[in-house]
Amino acid sequence: MDKITSEQLRIERMQEHHDVQSFRSYEQELVSFLVEDALDNQNSRISVTYLLFLEATGELVGYITLLNDRINLEGNLKDVFHRKGILYHSLPALKIGRLCVNDKFLRRGIGTQMLAFAVKIANHIFSEYAGCRFIVLDAKRNPQNDSIHFYKKIGFEMLKERKKGTTPMYLDLVNNVKFSI
Ligand SMILES: CC(C)(COP(=O)(O)OP(=O)(O)OC[C@H]1O[C@@H](n2cnc3c(N)ncnc32)[C@H](O)[C@@H]1OP(=O)(O)O)[C@@H](O)C(=O)NCCC(=O)NCCS
Repeated sequence: MDKITSEQLRIERMQEHHDVQSFRSYEQELVSFLVEDALDNQNSRISVTYLLFLEATGELVGYITLLNDRINLEGNLKDVFHRKGILYHSLPALKIGRLCVNDKFLRRGIGTQMLAFAVKIANHIFSEYAGCRFIVLDAKRNPQNDSIHFYKKIGFEMLKERKKGTTPMYLDLVNNVKFSI
């Protein structure tokens, strides 16, 4: 199957009128979040969800939920930043709270497009409004489909090693040569 390009996609901030009932994923928890909680969380200013549609057909191919966060500097990461003269205990980050591709469109580049969108938002926050050094997330460790491979390919690193449940990961937005948009 061909990869889907950014020109073939339309991104919309989730609103009341959007119908998300057709969305399907092997990660049922991420379907439930979209259908039941995403809009409530947005109305409470906890997170913002963006929907990706295929321009040609209007199909909902994926969604990404963003919120503000910070990364605590511990262990090796703390040493790395100390060597750079950055002595804070934590640094600002944009968190990907949820990210999911419709089962029908897996492995066609949609997940990568959504990460590119998150990087774009983080860069926009920094260039216009507020500090934002990292993108952070908790990667799902589904034994059948471990999302960590996907994030590692883009350049995310593990914050803490965990084999089950979720693994916290980060992307440093300074000098990241692997992922440019
Ligand atoms: C993880 C997920 C977002 C990836 O989305 P996607 O659109 O299929 O990913 P892409 O097509 O952009 O993949 C880019 C690269 O990542 C790697 N990758 C993606 N999915 C992978 C998988 N299941 N196993 C191993 N590598 C994978 C591949 O190297 C792929 O490149 P290739 O297809 O050319 O080999 C998608 O599988 C998904 O939504 N899963 C269910 C929800 C989930 O786990 N979300 C993450 C929660 S933190």
